[in-house]
Amino acid sequence: MKIIFATSNENKVKEVKEILPKHIAIVSLKEMGYTEDIEETGSTLEENSLLKAQTIFDKYKLPVLAEDTGLEVDALQGAPGVYSARYAGEHGNSEANMQLLLKNLEKEDNRKAQFRTVATFIAENSSSIYTGVVRGEIIKEKTGEKGFGYDPIFIPAGFDKTFAEMSSQEKSIVSHRAIAMQKFAQHFEN
Ligand code: IMP
Repeated sequence: MKIIFATSNENKVKEVKEILPKHIAIVSLKEMGYTEDIEETGSTLEENSLLKAQTIFDKYKLPVLAEDTGLEVDALQGAPGVYSARYAGEHGNSEANMQLLLKNLEKEDNRKAQFRTVATFIAENSSSIYTGVVRGEIIKEKTGEKGFGYDPIFIPAGFDKTFAEMSSQEKSIVSHRAIAMQKFAQHFEN
């Protein structure tokens, strides 16, 4: 069965294709020829995840999977959270976002944080939601070249390297996105 993955973020497409079993055929928005931006107007990850899935389901009437992800920092009361992509102002400027976060945590001893992914699946007559959380900490300097977004400053609990130092296979086992997508896959197989 073909499932449209409602994101324009090619890093997410690559990760989700790696996480999900091969017989779940993921088709990206780019592969569908969809080039519009879906504005994330919700005030929670849940709302934005649903908004993306619903927009694409309404257009194609095919099964759709969408997700919204945020980095939630304990000492900042969960910020940047749903605003993670535009924390420093400009949407999707990961370098500026990381620099601002590091600055805001400069004098902070509590570096605990979590990545949270909320995935929404919509098909005819059904919709469901899956959450994946990975706890960890924000380090003081960017380390590693792989991954995307905030990966160079986040070390997941139980590891001694950032997501940006992990291979894509490693990240695809332990990440917030992996947890949410594995829950989806389990439900989908049943
Ligand atoms: P969104 O889910 O596309 O809105 O992403 C929110 C923000 O979190 C963006 O700045 C992404 O780059 C970042 N982000 C999303 N997923 C990850 C991840 O797996 N690692 C690091 N940053 C991420």
